[in-house]
Amino acid sequence: GVDKKILVIPGDGIGQEVTTWGRKVLETIATNYKHNFTFEEGIMGHVAIDATGTPLPDETLDKARKSDAILFGAIGHAKYDNDPTLKVRPEQGLLKIRKELGLYANLRPIKLFDELLEASSIKPEILRGADILFFRELTGDVYFGEKKRTEDRNTASDLMIYHRYEVERIARKAFEAARTRRKKLCSVDKANVLEASRLWREVVQAMEKEYTDVTVEHMFIDNAAMQLVKDPKRFDVVVTGNLFGDILTDEASQIAGSMGMLASASVGDSVGFYEPIHGSAHDIAGKGIANPLASILSAALMLDISFGLKNESLRVIKAVETTLKQGFRTMDIANKHTENHLVMGTDAMGAKVLENLS
Ligand code: NAD
Ligand code: IPM
Ligand code: MN
Repeated sequence: GVDKKILVIPGDGIGQEVTTWGRKVLETIATNYKHNFTFEEGIMGHVAIDATGTPLPDETLDKARKSDAILFGAIGHAKYDNDPTLKVRPEQGLLKIRKELGLYANLRPIKLFDELLEASSIKPEILRGADILFFRELTGDVYFGEKKRTEDRNTASDLMIYHRYEVERIARKAFEAARTRRKKLCSVDKANVLEASRLWREVVQAMEKEYTDVTVEHMFIDNAAMQLVKDPKRFDVVVTGNLFGDILTDEASQIAGSMGMLASASVGDSVGFYEPIHGSAHDIAGKGIANPLASILSAALMLDISFGLKNESLRVIKAVETTLKQGFRTMDIANKHTENHLVMGTDAMGAKVLENLS
């Protein structure tokens, strides 16, 4: 077995509810496969602001640096969403930890479990067989460019900025991944308008010469948003900037049935960071109805990508699949054919996956 130190950061809202199950899955895998996983917890987001005045306490960052992988839930609170004038905000914690840990590549796999063909708002015949891997750049773009507000408070700006090396390193990861898949890469930008996108396209085009076995397509973000729901199967690997990737992958969650199904892996300079793509979901927080599968599938990505435990990772995905085959659903993935007694809350669903792991 392997020895690994895992930092768990549940965060806010449903982050706390679902991360419990990602962690329990890791604990069960450790027991079943005789690995030694030790867990620590850290605070971030609204809970951290409440406790310490800052969304990412140094203590959490230190623990993160000393761990082999991080399982994160979500951050965010209605209080800040409703008051844009607040200066200290939960989201700053997440952005800071991504930057500090050098997590420049955010992998968001979009894969539909056949059992969920009816859960999406998109027609089953459009969806069947869709399998996309997004590479979202995560430490640059308009997220990290200079922010300004004039003294009279009437004008505001956020600088969209990319450096050549930032585009090159995320594109390289995407090209390499395409090589192991269907050898198609779609680079999404807005090069018809934005200078940062023209640099993006120039860099990706130059790299095409190194990867002649990969078929590259360049697409504008507005068209990509449309093509994604028109014909998701046309995509294999997609690489794009921080903001476009954020938006496109929430849209793409409908290809997998729900936001509650999408996991992600953020990698880069050192430690790997694993989280659902969804947020703290104020509308359902505290009700015990959030789908825990995105957190569980994030744990599966950790086993594979950070620990190289491919079998264990597949075992988790299989347990999720079995649970869905048995008909069990959280509210977000239920449909008109789902029998009432099979619709369950977070904990019951998580427990079913654990049963199927053993
Ligand atoms: P959200 O992702 O929290 O929720 C969007 C919709 O999807 C909601 O209707 C929600 O109920 C549903 N949903 C999300 N996850 C679900 C799950 N596991 N099971 C069932 N349904 C689920 O996005 P939002 O409402 O725009 O944002 C809420 C807060 O979360 C904001 O403060 C935002 O800043 C924050 N946020 C954080 C992250 C993160 O921590 N990575 C990501 C997105 C948003
Ligand atoms: C995500 C979230 C974050 C982002 C926010 C909360 C900073 O939406 O992880 O997708 O925009 O990156
Ligand atoms: Mn997002």
